[in-house]
Amino acid sequence: MDPLLNAANSALRTLFSTPRAAQVCPTLAAQTTQLDAVESRAAASLMRVNHVGEVCAQALYTAQALTTRNPALRAHFTRACTEETDHLAWTEQRLKELNARPSLLNPLWYAGAFGLGLLAGRLGDAVSLGFVVETEVQVGAHLQSHLDKLPPGDHASRAIVAQMRDDELRHAQDAQDAGAMELPQPVKDLMRAAAKVMTTVAHHI
Ligand SMILES: [Fe+2]
Ligand SMILES: [Fe+2]
Repeated sequence: MDPLLNAANSALRTLFSTPRAAQVCPTLAAQTTQLDAVESRAAASLMRVNHVGEVCAQALYTAQALTTRNPALRAHFTRACTEETDHLAWTEQRLKELNARPSLLNPLWYAGAFGLGLLAGRLGDAVSLGFVVETEVQVGAHLQSHLDKLPPGDHASRAIVAQMRDDELRHAQDAQDAGAMELPQPVKDLMRAAAKVMTTVAHHI
């Protein structure tokens, strides 16, 4: 398919259709999850943030696949994007189970992340991969922090978040192995600041 059409298709699919996971979350707990109203709301806010992260992952990987001229790297980004679709589906499903909605600002998050992915891609493959490494490492740390915040009895959300954390750290390693360059510290700091704005807003909206 034409790369631009492919990108448009990905945006529409991410934002307006219900994603289908290729696999059930492998670490889903056997214990049933029962939450009171307060726990349920707290879990929903965290899972909304994680869902936004996955919307952004779709945008980033799609933009980076679009910009690279290296077919092997395009396949790498596309494969990672497919794995992220599982995360998108799991978090969306969990939000439904918690009777919560995704972020109303998802089109905005998608557009912003897509722009960043294009920018990273334009700066060359090593930078683009370096951006993936830093993003995935930051997301992995963020997911780890959610394991401390999620209600202890929310086995379902915790299993999803734990699996996603492991996958994101593997994505970081894969990008490293594919030839990523280390981003300068100020860029990493800027990315962390942008992520903070996004996670703070998505917690509520
Ligand atoms: Fe993910
Ligand atoms: Fe990832």
